[in-house]
Amino acid sequence: MTYQNYSLKQLQQIDAAHHLHPFTDHKELRVSGSRIITRANGPFIYDADGTEILDGMAGLWCVNVGYGRDELADAAYAQMKELPYYNSFFKCSTPTPVLLSKKLAELAPKGIAQVFYGSSGSEANDTALRLVRHYWALEGKPEKNRIISRKMGYHGSTVAGTSLGGMDLMHKQLGGAVPNIVHVMMPYAYELALPGESDHDFGLRAAKAVEDAILQAGADKVAAFIGEPVMGAGGVKIPPMSYWPEVQRICRKYDVLLMLDEVITGYGRTGEWFAAQTFGIEPDTITTAKALTSGYQPLSALLVGDRIAATLVEKGGEFYHGYTYSGHPVACAVALKNLEIMEREGLVDRVKNDTGPYFAQALQERIAGHDLVGEVRSIGLMGAIEIVKDKTTKERFLPAGSAAVTVRDHAIAQGMMLRATGDTMILSPPLIWTRDTIDMACERIARALDLAQADLRKK
Ligand SMILES: Cc1ncc(COP(=O)(O)O)c(C=O)c1O
Repeated sequence: MTYQNYSLKQLQQIDAAHHLHPFTDHKELRVSGSRIITRANGPFIYDADGTEILDGMAGLWCVNVGYGRDELADAAYAQMKELPYYNSFFKCSTPTPVLLSKKLAELAPKGIAQVFYGSSGSEANDTALRLVRHYWALEGKPEKNRIISRKMGYHGSTVAGTSLGGMDLMHKQLGGAVPNIVHVMMPYAYELALPGESDHDFGLRAAKAVEDAILQAGADKVAAFIGEPVMGAGGVKIPPMSYWPEVQRICRKYDVLLMLDEVITGYGRTGEWFAAQTFGIEPDTITTAKALTSGYQPLSALLVGDRIAATLVEKGGEFYHGYTYSGHPVACAVALKNLEIMEREGLVDRVKNDTGPYFAQALQERIAGHDLVGEVRSIGLMGAIEIVKDKTTKERFLPAGSAAVTVRDHAIAQGMMLRATGDTMILSPPLIWTRDTIDMACERIARALDLAQADLRKK
């Protein structure tokens, strides 16, 4: 029986009765009912009432080639018919992860040529954490096992992902994090720059926090620093250009590995295949997932740099780690086709040279001036809008986060899917957006801001 035999109301009731959603207040959801998305095409999603919504979040930062790609469905179908599954344990492999590994080695920044697969970004970060600690143990330095991360960083929701991440509310529910992970300040100039401090200087100061943490622990105790090139779930916090090269310099100075979490930024979002290239750095690991398949299949790839790979291969013996679905043949077939589409349509170049700059300009010209907006910022096709009560003082509405939810609800009613994180509105659309789609999005967001303003100023 297909879902068409159920009314929207019935689906919502069944959902409430049996489905525990991620990151959700379940009691509240049982009152409001879930929005049930039934189909999607190009840049649009459609709910069970047939309402068309422009998807400003590419699902959850992942549907980079947009919806309705028959080629991806065909690739999955063909692979399922030929070989739906076989594992990559006990010296076996299947063709698609082999070919995908080659492709990823070609696309990856210099010095990265190996891949370890999983099914999600969280799993890939578990792999990354284990791998860097294992690396130092193999190098005879097992005590060099601390990881430095950032407050408000997001690295997934498994125990390791939550521990690596810097979200206080998640830590509170964890009941004991993975030990030896410390969190330093984030490079978020809008709230953390000092009066009169330039962007450049702020970036260096935020990087210095990494050096301070290394010195505090002792360099011989620190395995790695991990960060999202642009903090995503924490509110699209774009670091000054001075930040990453300085972090890299510091890591090299103290022989600390540099781990980038590109689960959001990987595969074109910032206008290069990887944000490592956008920021001009050469990390030791890159965590990727999401847009690797444009979300059409669950798949993650931890890209492993030559230094770690050489030690793992030469000195490692067996690495006791892996997943049933590591290198899943169907997911890898879809990833190969997805990357082929991105290359054929020049989507990454388009973000860099056309839609990315146009998006930045449109947000500045049409959104930044609004009374409710403290700042807009973007990089490639990833953007944020800070919602404030007072533009000059940056005062926020109370309770924290409520204003952004008001804007989001109006935006959805205007046919525009946005996400609210704290008091920041987030945009991360499919890379197929054109200038026209950006215009459409800005019109809808501006209307939502007007309507939210009327509500918020009334209170
Ligand atoms: C930067 C980053 N790392 C890791 C993850 C976790 O990925 P997943 O939800 O696939 O486990 C996410 C998810 O949003 C993410 O944004």
